[in-house]
Amino acid sequence: CLSLAVAHSGARITTVEGLPRGTDGLHPLQQAFLDRDGFQCGYCTPGQICSALGVIAEAAGGHPSHVTAADGPPPGEPVPLTADEIRERMSGNICRCAAYPHIVEAIEDVAGAAVTA
Ligand code: FES
Repeated sequence: CLSLAVAHSGARITTVEGLPRGTDGLHPLQQAFLDRDGFQCGYCTPGQICSALGVIAEAAGGHPSHVTAADGPPPGEPVPLTADEIRERMSGNICRCAAYPHIVEAIEDVAGAAVTA
């Protein structure tokens, strides 16, 4: 919802439905959201899960956030995803049901594992 679809003509786009990549099971983030009750109405859930995937990839790629400590990992080294890091990096995603604590827990559960789209 943050950019025009036409601006991504020809780009590879992964939606939440495409995360399991043809397997019968769920992506680890999808399972973690279920396990942690990371949603209520589910309206925001696809965006939350796709953003969480990006958050995990950015932190693993060594991209600092506004709350990354100045004496944190050197540039390019993975940034540990603390609850504060997750909240900051997910801050653009609004959940009207206020499932935020459970969303953070779900991401914490998966953050240590190697997760890719
Ligand atoms: S679960 Fe309802 S808006 Fe997030």
